[in-house]
Amino acid sequence: MIQKKANIAVFISGRGTNLKALILSSKKQNCNYNIALVVSNKKNAKGLKIAKKNKISTKIISQSFLKTEQKRLAKILVNKNIKFICLAGFMKILSPYFLNFFKNKIINIHPSLLPKYKGLNTHYRALKAKEKFSGCTIHYVSKKLDSGKIIAKKKVKIFKKDTSKKLERRVLKEENKLYPLVLEKLIRS
Ligand code: GRF
Repeated sequence: MIQKKANIAVFISGRGTNLKALILSSKKQNCNYNIALVVSNKKNAKGLKIAKKNKISTKIISQSFLKTEQKRLAKILVNKNIKFICLAGFMKILSPYFLNFFKNKIINIHPSLLPKYKGLNTHYRALKAKEKFSGCTIHYVSKKLDSGKIIAKKKVKIFKKDTSKKLERRVLKEENKLYPLVLEKLIRS
């Protein structure tokens, strides 16, 4: 029997390497998800081009993203039967209303080994603290920034000669591998 693929929405604000990795993986024959919508709060986000190139519907939200707009987007997501919302470099805090509406359905990827280094400039801070390892974490999104239940982590070794840029590049490579794997696993469970 052919199993129906789960519909996924990806929320972005910029570059979109994680979006690209999720799209690439969704095209594999046995993949259990399909990217049905890409949402961005930046109309010039590079990731939008990736979505369009792959013929994926896109939706731009406003900077204010007030309740009426949130309700409208929630309706679109429900109509598309979205099973998970994957935040991938989405630089906007979602309201308690939105989080409650999609309870346990919104996940995020963060470039540090949470609970260490929540927020921004994670690589710089990990280097400054002379950490031996950094990495990335996938977690459920909760009201507190980068604090929801952890789903998976991938460690990356820090080298003596590392700069934030170098470390970012290596961590990002792991993020791009981890996100599709974890999403597939979540859908299967
Ligand atoms: C990634 O490092 C992700 O962990 C963080 O924002 C960055 C987004 O990168 N939340 P990209 O847009 O997916 O390339």
